[in-house]
Amino acid sequence: MLSIVILGTGNIAKHLVGALSKAKEVRLAQVVGRNQEQLLWFSGFAPISTDFGAIMDADVYLIAVKDDAIVEVSKHLSDKKGIVAHTSGAAEMDSLPMENRGVFYPLQSFTEGRPLDFKSIPFCIEAHRKQSAEILKALASRLSDNVYDIDSQQRKKLHLAAMFVSNFSNYLYGVGEKLCLEEGLPFDLLKPLIRETAEKVQVMPPKEAQTGPARRGDQKTMQAHLSLLKDEKQIELYKLFSEAIKKVYEEKL
Ligand SMILES: NC(=O)c1ccc[n+]([C@@H]2O[C@H](COP(=O)([O-])OP(=O)(O)OC[C@H]3O[C@@H](n4cnc5c(N)ncnc54)[C@H](OP(=O)(O)O)[C@@H]3O)[C@@H](O)[C@H]2O)c1
Repeated sequence: MLSIVILGTGNIAKHLVGALSKAKEVRLAQVVGRNQEQLLWFSGFAPISTDFGAIMDADVYLIAVKDDAIVEVSKHLSDKKGIVAHTSGAAEMDSLPMENRGVFYPLQSFTEGRPLDFKSIPFCIEAHRKQSAEILKALASRLSDNVYDIDSQQRKKLHLAAMFVSNFSNYLYGVGEKLCLEEGLPFDLLKPLIRETAEKVQVMPPKEAQTGPARRGDQKTMQAHLSLLKDEKQIELYKLFSEAIKKVYEEKL
């Protein structure tokens, strides 16, 4: 049985507590956060506290606060014997001041109120002590079938890659939505295309999956698109992406 204390009351804390509460051989010892209102959400799962000076003893402490607050929160755990791990894709493991430190990073986009299938979420694990890595991996395995040893350098690159495929794509969905609405068209018209684009790369490399005028080199179509755009940022993005796509296929020749 592994006892766990969660620090933080945001998106990740809620998803992790929901999943850990159903996991075998896991006991949620406490949830600690500064936001009393948010803490109440956790009261059905574990004892709650706003007092960072009264953190209970546990095998693992998962720091699920915003990246910039990880070090500050970790200072309240300096006398603890258990493993202190943060859940960030971007923060260094060595930013944690204690010897028994690690990382417990689930690579997914977590949004409040959107249930996720934890079994398929990759968990990226790192720890300063070998034995602690084994414990964090055992914990992650109770939630997911995809558990990986990934060091801080690799994780930072992976997190950067995740920004491109998720955050930036999502921003572009917003651009698409705006262009549809300008013509009184619903965003729903684009959803089958969005789904197919994401599904294709599950079975073929992005380079093979690419279609469109930039790949084909259809200059007239690209000029026509540019003449429809008024927003400077959209024009800049259109040119940037088209150039980047063209370059990928020029390299092939
Ligand atoms: N969301 C994702 O998709 C995702 C995916 C993988 C990893 N992560 C990582 O998980 C961690 C948490 O992200 P999140 O999405 O859960 O963020 P979030 O929903 O914005 O929640 C942030 C939490 O940090 C707390 N916090 C901020 N500053 C604090 C401080 N100085 N002292 C104590 N608590 C503080 C907030 O408390 P208040 O409510 O009081 O501000 C809140 O509970 C981050 O390291 C993030 O990189 C997130």
